[in-house]
Amino acid sequence: MNDLHTNNHVPVIDILGITKTYDMGKLKLDVLKGISLQIQRGEIVSIMGPSGSGKSTLMNILGALDQPTTGAYNLDGEDIAKLSQVELARIRNRKIGFVFQSFNLLKRTSAQRQVELPLIYAGSRDRAKKARAALEAVGLEDRLDHLPSELSGGQQQRVAIARAIVGDPSIILADEPTGNLDSKSGTEVMQIFQRLNREQGITTVFVTHDPWIARHTQRVIMIRDGQIVADQPVAEPLVAGEAERPSEAEELQGIFEAAYAPSEAGAAD
Ligand SMILES: Nc1ncnc2c1ncn2[C@@H]1O[C@H](COP(=O)(O)OP(=O)(O)OP(=O)(O)O)[C@@H](O)[C@H]1O
Ligand SMILES: [Mg+2]
Repeated sequence: MNDLHTNNHVPVIDILGITKTYDMGKLKLDVLKGISLQIQRGEIVSIMGPSGSGKSTLMNILGALDQPTTGAYNLDGEDIAKLSQVELARIRNRKIGFVFQSFNLLKRTSAQRQVELPLIYAGSRDRAKKARAALEAVGLEDRLDHLPSELSGGQQQRVAIARAIVGDPSIILADEPTGNLDSKSGTEVMQIFQRLNREQGITTVFVTHDPWIARHTQRVIMIRDGQIVADQPVAEPLVAGEAERPSEAEELQGIFEAAYAPSEAGAAD
């Protein structure tokens, strides 16, 4: 095992003091205010935080879709700031698979063709075969010719995941991938992410608003107002599909109890 060659001890994602400021003319908007973060190869991590706290902005920087205003980013040991637009696009294509809340599929394109597209840009061979294998990996081998309108939401998201993994990425970045799904489809999607992570060691970074989804990852990073306010391991990560999600009624009851139950000291009888 030669670490110099396998790079196993270099974090896949290594950012130091990242800031992002949007210049809106008179107004300067400081969206990220100095974020430092290391994510190791094979980790599965979730990022949580209120709306507008900067999660998507951070994900776009992690995915080399956008450049930080200041700060350093080493992606798989490579200094991103030094790369040209062309080199950035090449790295994105080779190393990163993106999944979005709104699936981002082409309306009039079959599942098989959607998944072949990144391979066409990359100029790879055996595109049809690789696309079929990726669709099989997400359980859609019998939906190759379907258009997005002929698929359920969960199935459309699985096409998007097949498209993200077909190029054999080392990292998957998923921005609220279960945000538009019912809980059953959300669980199926989590099962796929966990399996890809377990079997292929794909480093996976999720944004989610759902604490239940976050409990299926190994580590939760909380962002508030452009800064990391907590970064903790999940004590016992759940295996998707194994644990029963508490019913909404139970969750609500928990909330009501916390809000309305008389405190120990003040309790009558
Ligand atoms: N291109 C841009 N130009 C100017 N301001 C932007 C731009 N993109 C995002 N912002 C601002 O940056 C802040 C953070 O946005 P971001 O999309 O990162 O939030 P988020 O945490 O992903 O929120 P949500 O949970 O709602 O998706 C917001 O106040 C937003 O208005
Ligand atoms: Mg967002």
